[in-house]
Amino acid sequence: MKVTIIGSGYVGLVTGACLAEQGNNVFCVDVDPKKIAILNSGGVPIYEPGLKEMIERNRAAGRLQFSTDIAASVAHGDIQFIAVGTPPDEDGSADLQYVVAAARNIGLHMITPKVIVDKSTVPVGTADKVSAAITEELNKRGLSPELCSVVSNPEFLKEGAAVEDFMRPDRIVIGTQTTPAGMRAKEQMRKLYAPFNRHHERTYYMDVRSAELTKYAANAMLATRISFMNELANLADLVGADIEAVRQGIGSDSRIGYGFLYSGTGYGGSCFPKDVSALSKTAIEHGRDLKILDAVEAVNEAQKYILVEKIEKRFGKDLSGKKFALWGLAFKPNTDDMREAPSRVIIQELIKRGAQIVAHDPVAMPEAQHCFDADFKGNPEGLKKVSLVDDPMAAVDGCDALVIVTEWKAFRSPDFDLLKAKLKTPIIFDGRNLYEPQAMQELGIEYQGIGRHN
Ligand code: NAD
Ligand code: UDX
Repeated sequence: MKVTIIGSGYVGLVTGACLAEQGNNVFCVDVDPKKIAILNSGGVPIYEPGLKEMIERNRAAGRLQFSTDIAASVAHGDIQFIAVGTPPDEDGSADLQYVVAAARNIGLHMITPKVIVDKSTVPVGTADKVSAAITEELNKRGLSPELCSVVSNPEFLKEGAAVEDFMRPDRIVIGTQTTPAGMRAKEQMRKLYAPFNRHHERTYYMDVRSAELTKYAANAMLATRISFMNELANLADLVGADIEAVRQGIGSDSRIGYGFLYSGTGYGGSCFPKDVSALSKTAIEHGRDLKILDAVEAVNEAQKYILVEKIEKRFGKDLSGKKFALWGLAFKPNTDDMREAPSRVIIQELIKRGAQIVAHDPVAMPEAQHCFDADFKGNPEGLKKVSLVDDPMAAVDGCDALVIVTEWKAFRSPDFDLLKAKLKTPIIFDGRNLYEPQAMQELGIEYQGIGRHN
């Protein structure tokens, strides 16, 4: 099938590559010429395991192309996926300007019938806004709005495992309208996703609004689990319990399950923070305050400071003259995404208290440097106190403690003797509970995890 993907970011690129992999002819478009230039010169602007190889393979086979040409992109696909960003507005609601602009472009250029797919995470009611924007443009050109139908097909991929998640999804959610055009769109979506349903049916068909809400409900539920566990971890620290034992004890209940019960430095990334906030705003707009979401957000905000609190407790409030190694900058492993990464808050706070930071991340350092340049705008002295190094052991050299923020596999079993020898004082503040407190004690390392009974 001929498919256009509007927006060549994390979701757009993965969707485009994976649909091309299934034999579709895919046209990816973006308004950012730099991104498209990188893609057209054989690079990939983001780090996502397996994506580069998949893009190369499908481009070589002539099934995948990248362009900034909006008119050509509209002409190409019978199915047009909108996969542009929906960042938080000033008040926390989803900013739909990019979605609406993409919709207008479709309405401006389309001649033949199109299925428009909202792939971006968008609040309930957005499909109607997309429809209205396209209809307005079609009307201006005297074309019938019957030419298009808007489908909601939210994306559930996780960064770092995005290709795998897209190729083998837990479920595919498709929300369609009940109009004749809607029924035709449903049939086209069924055909497009047929290869993903080969061994068993994974698609849930529903109405558009339910599909839109399903995406927010999933992310809010996962974020709630994390905040709940972070609250319990902080309690475990106070009462002398081990959150890891508790996690296993409750996760073994099949009604609860093990997923998303890891306590840490709070959730980050481009989805959970903004989606919890946007869902909350949607509820408020409809006269309902979802108090549970306010609590999830407040707990998460506080949790980003938990390592700083532990460091203050150990070294005092004034950290001048202290140097900390920090392992892991990306908001999670296997990505270079620094959006809402807890490392950014932790670094700002430690620097505010006078500390110096030597940080390492296996892939996110170039992206981190961009973010720090922005975070420390107006504070060049602060920026000078953060350095990035290629080798995790070099980061630790002469530091007062090691602070772990992201659980990259490479950090799981370091040479602890070397680590001890390099640190000025053998102390680890572990925001991801990578090590066993007992083993650390035996190694003579002072260890502070999150809720680990220490
Ligand atoms: P992103 O910022 O990485 O990419 C968005 C891209 O859209 C950018 O390259 C931007 O230049 C481009 N763009 C903006 N306006 C455009 C227009 N009018 N025409 C063409 N291109 C345009 O964003 P992302 O992380 O891929 O997220 C996209 C959407 O998917 C968001 O709604 C997000 O919430 C949702 N989502 C993201 C993830 C994730 O893990 N990143 C997972 C599921 C859903
Ligand atoms: C999330 C959803 O999982 C995905 O379905 C949706 O499509 C996009 O948003 P993503 O943000 O890529 O995916 O990563 P995820 O693995 O969900 O982690 C989000 C944040 O939660 C990270 O900061 C991670 O460190 C944190 N987290 C996750 C925890 O603190 N504890 C956990 O148990 C799991």
